[in-house]
Amino acid sequence: MSTKFPIERFGEASTPFYYYDMELLDQTLAKIKQSTSRYGFNVHYAMKANANPAILRRICEAGLGADTVSGGEIAAALKAGFKAQDIVFAGVGKTDAEILLGLREGIGCFNVESVQELEIIEQLAIEEGVTARVALRINPNIDAHTHHYITTGLEENKFGLDMSVVPDMIRRCMQSQALEFVGLHFHIGSQITTLEPYRLLCERINAMQDDLERQGVTSIKSINVGGGLGIDYDDPDKHPIADFEPYFALFHDNLKLRDGQQLHFELGRAVVAQCGSLITRVIYVKEGIGKRFAIVDAGMTDLIRPALYQAHHKIENLTGNGRELRQYDVVGPICESSDVFGHDEMLPEVRRGDLLALRSAGAYGEVMASRYNLRNLPGFMA
Ligand code: LLP
Repeated sequence: MSTKFPIERFGEASTPFYYYDMELLDQTLAKIKQSTSRYGFNVHYAMKANANPAILRRICEAGLGADTVSGGEIAAALKAGFKAQDIVFAGVGKTDAEILLGLREGIGCFNVESVQELEIIEQLAIEEGVTARVALRINPNIDAHTHHYITTGLEENKFGLDMSVVPDMIRRCMQSQALEFVGLHFHIGSQITTLEPYRLLCERINAMQDDLERQGVTSIKSINVGGGLGIDYDDPDKHPIADFEPYFALFHDNLKLRDGQQLHFELGRAVVAQCGSLITRVIYVKEGIGKRFAIVDAGMTDLIRPALYQAHHKIENLTGNGRELRQYDVVGPICESSDVFGHDEMLPEVRRGDLLALRSAGAYGEVMASRYNLRNLPGFMA
């Protein structure tokens, strides 16, 4: 089930590029379907993780919805074939133009993150003569125990609404002709590798629902618990597919859904990370003082996660089979000291021209690439 690289196809391709193992993506999607259909859960793919059109089409064909965070993502989702009603739109800073796009296309739901935003959506919906379906994003104040930059559900984060303002906002939706309240939205962070934060989230949601019911709110049609399920960056071949079953089972066992209530997920990384690798060519092998550098043609402009989050992607020498292991710092060509993919990596002897794979790069890889240093954007092969 793990990725087999078609190296014969790589020879002529211009590096660096992203290689997507579509078979692994299909298997991952099949697993998601299998685990969710048992419970009747819905998954919206968080397309911020990877908006490559080939990937989006495949995910759309598998029947997932789309979780978007910008007008650009809404447009790309529609172009890939997602139906408007299967698109949800989140983000703390939706502009008027983006809201209008969502209203005119008739998207499934706006995940609202402030009182002001709700007012603007209502005003624009009145002007357009349409009804906006809205969910309220609540900050559940749960520590997801992940990297500081990708934890989102704490009170100190900019995301979501404090529970204290929520009942009034729901009442406001109920009174408005232009707003339809559909439910509550949560997201606690990303690359979460234990289930405990999710169990806490379920408890928090159960208590909130009890509380809201005591206040007379009984019209919550959907609960959206966001995404965040982590993947194995250390050993992608051992765990090519994330642990979906225990994850979905935990929500089934712990979350007290009311009659007819729908449960939604917004998974990004766990859907696409393992099917993608960044393929790069070795330009030089440089002997430093007490160090040997493998200088490759991919840099932080192609895969920024190591530089930005101290992330580590497993590195493989695809052309060095059978050679003796040696130690390298694998670095990119960009003029920044943080442009390093790995320190003290043990790899089969690396030579100029070898192809290396940076694994588990299907999520937040290609989509975060930049043209810093006026480099070209990486290509892709599927
Ligand atoms: N829903 C919301 C509201 C989110 O903010 C996110 C991710 C997701 C869903 C999807 O989370 P996932 O299932 O992919 O963990 N660039 C960072 C990750 C940023 C995640 C931002 N929000 C990285 O490379 O690790």
